[in-house]
Amino acid sequence: MTGVPDTTLLAQLSDPHVDAGPSGDAAARALAAAVAAVLELDPAPDAVLLSGDLVNDPGEEAYARVRDLLAPLPMPLHVVAGNHDDPDGLRAAFGAPGQAGEPLQYEARVGKLRLLVCDTTVGGAHHGALDGGRLEWLAARLQAARDTPTVVAMHHPPLMTGAAAMDELALVPADRTALGELLAGHPQVLRVVCGHVHCAAVGSAGNRPVLTAPSTHLQLRANSRGRIELAPDPPGFLLHLAHPDGLTSRVQPILRA
Ligand SMILES: [Fe+2]
Ligand SMILES: [Fe+2]
Repeated sequence: MTGVPDTTLLAQLSDPHVDAGPSGDAAARALAAAVAAVLELDPAPDAVLLSGDLVNDPGEEAYARVRDLLAPLPMPLHVVAGNHDDPDGLRAAFGAPGQAGEPLQYEARVGKLRLLVCDTTVGGAHHGALDGGRLEWLAARLQAARDTPTVVAMHHPPLMTGAAAMDELALVPADRTALGELLAGHPQVLRVVCGHVHCAAVGSAGNRPVLTAPSTHLQLRANSRGRIELAPDPPGFLLHLAHPDGLTSRVQPILRA
């Protein structure tokens, strides 16, 4: 638990995109700076959520590099699969739950919060989906604890950025609609937290608030005229503070190393 009574603090790092080898050096330095920033927090977070795209090209070496960079964090890590990840690679590197070949979906307790991690990845593609029983899994988990403050985490956010090329890689429209219909009946969902879009953006799904995280490395330029233009703009991460009146989320900038 954090040092403040009746509170829970969850840090969310996203989209570090670390590669094995020299091409991953800048991303690795950026992730190290993010880890250092988390370690400076007082009180310390109860857990850290990694909201996907931990690596660029999934492989044992790249995941080992990320694992080593995250090793200084003493609190539990909860990983989310992104479109650049391999769910089984995440299981192998981080001991994430579930059977090989299955979507990386699981439930975790973080202090007062219930964390439901969804897998929106589509093998061999970069857009997102919640088909194949994944949305039904979320529905059943939400139904099972209607009164517990809950955070739902998924890589692809159910919101548009305005950068057309990025929005083509969003959750498919049918699943966005279905997710909104599901969430509308679950006010215990205090936040849907996501990565993928490499910027902090706020929206809603079924009247539940959606928040996306900046990347620990490269950010989506707002003036990218429909293109995906990622630039070394100031990085950051999210802090979610659960307290007796609800959940407060903030963006914490990171000083580059
Ligand atoms: Fe990403
Ligand atoms: Fe992504």
